[in-house]
Amino acid sequence: MAAQINRDSKDSEVKKSMEEQRMQAVLLTGHGGYDKLVTKELPIPKPETGQVLVRVKTSGLNFAELHCRQGLYQVPGGLPPCPFSMGMECAGVVEEVGSGVVQPKPGTRVICLNDFGLWKEFAAVKAERCFPIPEGMSFEEAAALAVNYLTAYLMLFNFGNLRQGTSVLIHMAAGGVGIAATQLCKTVPDVTVYGTASAHKHELIREMGVKHPIDYRNMDYEVEIRKISPKGVDIVLDPLSGKDTMKCFDLLRPMGKLIVFGAANMMQGENRSMLNVAKTWWNSPSFGAMDMMQKNKSVSGFHLGYLADETELLTNAMNEIIRLYQAGRIKPKIDSVWHFANIKDAMKQMHERKNVGKVVLTWDEKLVAKPEKQ
Ligand SMILES: NC(=O)c1ccc[n+]([C@@H]2O[C@H](COP(=O)([O-])OP(=O)(O)OC[C@H]3O[C@@H](n4cnc5c(N)ncnc54)[C@H](OP(=O)(O)O)[C@@H]3O)[C@@H](O)[C@H]2O)c1
Repeated sequence: MAAQINRDSKDSEVKKSMEEQRMQAVLLTGHGGYDKLVTKELPIPKPETGQVLVRVKTSGLNFAELHCRQGLYQVPGGLPPCPFSMGMECAGVVEEVGSGVVQPKPGTRVICLNDFGLWKEFAAVKAERCFPIPEGMSFEEAAALAVNYLTAYLMLFNFGNLRQGTSVLIHMAAGGVGIAATQLCKTVPDVTVYGTASAHKHELIREMGVKHPIDYRNMDYEVEIRKISPKGVDIVLDPLSGKDTMKCFDLLRPMGKLIVFGAANMMQGENRSMLNVAKTWWNSPSFGAMDMMQKNKSVSGFHLGYLADETELLTNAMNEIIRLYQAGRIKPKIDSVWHFANIKDAMKQMHERKNVGKVVLTWDEKLVAKPEKQ
């Protein structure tokens, strides 16, 4: 009897100490500038049915999180109330699995997708939103794969029907999605890529596969493209919105496709500019079906956040992206790796248009890598 009491009290002590284990998390405390981000201790979550607990090594920083910090990001059901943890993609190791989970097993290195909540040392994620990291892929590359490559892949292949001999205009061509899209274009023979980016990034995007880099900050990209191809291009990926959307539509050749997937024109530095938001909104065109019929053009809109329930679509695309990585056809370009404690500097790198490739966040001091000299 005494032994039983001893064992029970020991078990409950172990359970208590597990429950008391704490982790670091980056939280958004309100909408605004960098001062709205704080690091805080929270209890480590328990994986629920169908979930796994992941020890997070790296996370991707996305433009969406800049919008989110400013209260400008749209998701189904709206943003969670502050304080909450942002972070929609991460890479790490499965620590524990919830009931009903067969795969992935504890110890598996995984890439994870979630609506929010991955800027933590440990995150509980749906097992079906975890993808095993292939051999040879680093945690930094794994954090750069999901959002950027899924977005680029689904736009180019599902909406764009990208085929041999076509031409594509990629805006923000030196950014995370931009480089992913350029690399994916190179998986199809004879695709001509036009890319806009700040001038100092042109050498790199040329290496990635952009045939015609355009310095949009000092030149009119429509004029530059028409000098080379008077009829325009077959596909335009538009992450800008506002008046650029109409310009992109006008640049389409007959049978061309415009895919709108962002509103970067709303953004002007650290703090929200309501003037920019209003201008972008006001200048974004509406398209009439009859008008498009006469012009032989199509317009699509893409938002990965609204595809969260499309498990089959996301899994098939992710499997194909991993296959392309394994075949050496694509490789994420990492701009820099920042410790989560320096999240403000990581965001600044993007706001100030300095990044060339993906900005990655980590909890592991050893993975931190400064941006290349700019
Ligand atoms: N709909 C979706 O599901 C989805 C998913 C992922 C991303 N996106 C969109 O795709 C775009 C790219 O996202 P990303 O995460 O890959 O970011 P990113 O391209 O790495 O973003 C940073 C770069 O964007 C360019 N830029 C253009 N306008 C800017 C502005 N107003 N402020 C700061 N930088 C600006 C700058 O490069 P240059 O000066 O060289 O142009 C900057 O270095 C964003 O519009 C994002 O919202 C949409």
